[in-house]
Amino acid sequence: MKKLSHGQHGVALQLNGVARTGQCEPRTLLSDFLRYELGATGVHVGCEHGVCGACTVIIDGVAQRACLTLAVAAEGRAVTTVEGLAPDTDTLSALQASFRRHHALQCGFCTPGILMSCVDFLSRVPNPDETQVREMLSGHLCRCTGYSNIVLAILDVASQPKQQSTDA
Ligand code: FES
Ligand code: FES
Repeated sequence: MKKLSHGQHGVALQLNGVARTGQCEPRTLLSDFLRYELGATGVHVGCEHGVCGACTVIIDGVAQRACLTLAVAAEGRAVTTVEGLAPDTDTLSALQASFRRHHALQCGFCTPGILMSCVDFLSRVPNPDETQVREMLSGHLCRCTGYSNIVLAILDVASQPKQQSTDA
């Protein structure tokens, strides 16, 4: 991590597989750094204290709250945001497509964070039952959907051949 003048620090990380650098104060949250310094506005910020799950990103393969992580702590790490899920600009990942197919979002505010938790979850629990899915979703607040269609979307993608359901 490169120290700059005026209390700014340089942070270098891998964002969705691309080497990126930016500057921030030592107190800057990773969620703000990703959104305002690196332009990853798919990282949503709701509660900013670890409760709602909207800011969830994957850091070195593990889903974490970006609002509870300092940007300087991401130095040298591999960060994946929702922008990194689709294989190309014209194709959704299998998980994203399942969410669309099952109408698992309305306003979509919570959706990026839920998707990132799902990627981590399905990598560890590739064949979950409904109880496991609902337990995972208990870390996310959605004001719109009542969760039923989100559960259906996750169970559906988990039932697909595994090469299609690994999205990160
Ligand atoms: S904004 Fe991070 S958990 Fe709510
Ligand atoms: S889809 Fe609106 S908050 Fe979840």
